[in-house]
Amino acid sequence: MNPKIEHLRQLKQQAHAGGGEDKMAARKAKGKLSARERIEVLLDNGSFREIDALMVHRESNFGMEKKKILGDSVVTGWGTIDGRLVYVFSQDFTVFGGSLSGVHAEKICKVMEMAMRNGAPIVGINDSGGARIQEGVVSLAGYADVFLRNTLASGVIPQISVIMGPCAGGAVYSPALTDFIFMVKNSSHMFITGPDVVKAVTGEDVTFEELGGAMTHNTISGVAHMAAESEEDCLFLIREMMSYLPSNNMEDAPFKAGSDDNLRTEEKLNEIVPDNPNKPYDIRDVINLIVDEGRFYEIQQHYAQNIVVGFARLGGYSVGIVANQPMVLAGVLDIAASEKAARFVRFCDCFNIPLIVFEDVPGFLPGINQEHGGIIRHGAKLLYAFCEATVPKLTVITRKAYGGAYCVMNSKHIRSDFNVAWPTAEIAVMGPEGAVNIIYRREISEAEQPEAKRSELAAEYREHLANPYIAAQRGYVDDVIEPSETRPRLINALNMLQNKRDQNPPKKHGNMPL
Ligand code: HXC
Repeated sequence: MNPKIEHLRQLKQQAHAGGGEDKMAARKAKGKLSARERIEVLLDNGSFREIDALMVHRESNFGMEKKKILGDSVVTGWGTIDGRLVYVFSQDFTVFGGSLSGVHAEKICKVMEMAMRNGAPIVGINDSGGARIQEGVVSLAGYADVFLRNTLASGVIPQISVIMGPCAGGAVYSPALTDFIFMVKNSSHMFITGPDVVKAVTGEDVTFEELGGAMTHNTISGVAHMAAESEEDCLFLIREMMSYLPSNNMEDAPFKAGSDDNLRTEEKLNEIVPDNPNKPYDIRDVINLIVDEGRFYEIQQHYAQNIVVGFARLGGYSVGIVANQPMVLAGVLDIAASEKAARFVRFCDCFNIPLIVFEDVPGFLPGINQEHGGIIRHGAKLLYAFCEATVPKLTVITRKAYGGAYCVMNSKHIRSDFNVAWPTAEIAVMGPEGAVNIIYRREISEAEQPEAKRSELAAEYREHLANPYIAAQRGYVDDVIEPSETRPRLINALNMLQNKRDQNPPKKHGNMPL
């Protein structure tokens, strides 16, 4: 064989060996896929094309000149998911703990720039000890280069981060700037500093899992959006998510006509809202009965469960769903729910995904904790997000739409396109009991039987004010519909809105309440 070709083959083999056989075997023994195996599971079979496998780090201090590993600690390139172009990088923990060198950062920046230029999503598989200690400021500069590109790419192409190992220091901030973070239960961790540093600085004892495990970030901090059972499960979930997303902000998400009938009515919906307004029901049952094939791809399902967000298809269109959840805290809007939903609304608006809102909300959560925590500022995020969104916006009021939450949850007044209420809707400034206590305080206290008087007045209030018909008379809802016909009505509205044109006044960018 031509020796030059033989040499090239050897180089490619070396690059594939990563940090060496021993380290690869140790990873396998821990049940972890290698950096390249992860890419193979994520992308369509055989579609991956690697670039920059021959780059090596440039550090010569600390004996590093003798430790050059082809490709350094990250694998980069592109391939396809369901035939659609996707760029990818996957950090290789077997090479210096996946730490980020100047060259590692250059490789990531190159694929990020290609992704932006060519309008395709990027998936980053993170497994890294953070800034490469031996490279000092060069690795810090590399992180800053990546962060800048994350920020510039935000709203241009979908950016998805996968955490598949320990991610410390700078390794967590690039994911934090991206759209969605996927973690794997019991095997991925994110923190600014690990348990040892926490112990030294604050004296607190904490395990890796408690400090930054998948469930910590999916339930407590809200940093992560998905918690998968295994690495394979995680990569399949990303493939599925991609089916709801456009490749970039200039495109619509793929249309996929399924087998579900667009005219399907659902009698069960007519019975789903309990007669007793204080009795909960699961809003996911409502969503599942309405969307195509009952498939709802829920995001952040473990965090701020009083609001439900996620993707689905309606009549083949990809849609983003935001729904109050009466099963948790009566569906009230608090700080966490407002932030969770605001971020999702803004994602959908960036990427031309219509928003569908299911509303059953008693208002914002009162209380000292919430007020001192800044519910005014955080609640305003959701209001801002809905006001600013120019994608097709649809709202179904299933039951309560009280107070400020009525305005916030995609009301007609903030440019929603199609708003309907079910006959069970109660639209008013506040619930009957609270309202009569304020406006009839004297009448109730002076009554012979105050409790009976209160109930009588509350019933009167409910009949006259807490219903959908006053809003319908004013055109604040476009129609009051039978719940059973919700699916066909929403699909019809989505069709009607296909050529929607709306824009915000020209500006550099708004100043949303962060
Ligand atoms: C260079 C590193 C490294 C790093 C790990 N390694 N982290 N090399 N720079 N940051 C190397 C180790 O020397 C070791 O090399 C190999 O990777 C595997 O590491 P282990 O410690 O043996 O693995 P493990 O026990 O699994 O622990 C993984 C770990 C731990 C939790 C990630 O390595 C760790 O705490 N690393 C440091 C994390 C950190 O503080 N990074 C700096 C953050 S500051 P050998 O040759 O023995 O295999 C930062 C600043 C950016 O990132 C800020 C931007 C905003």
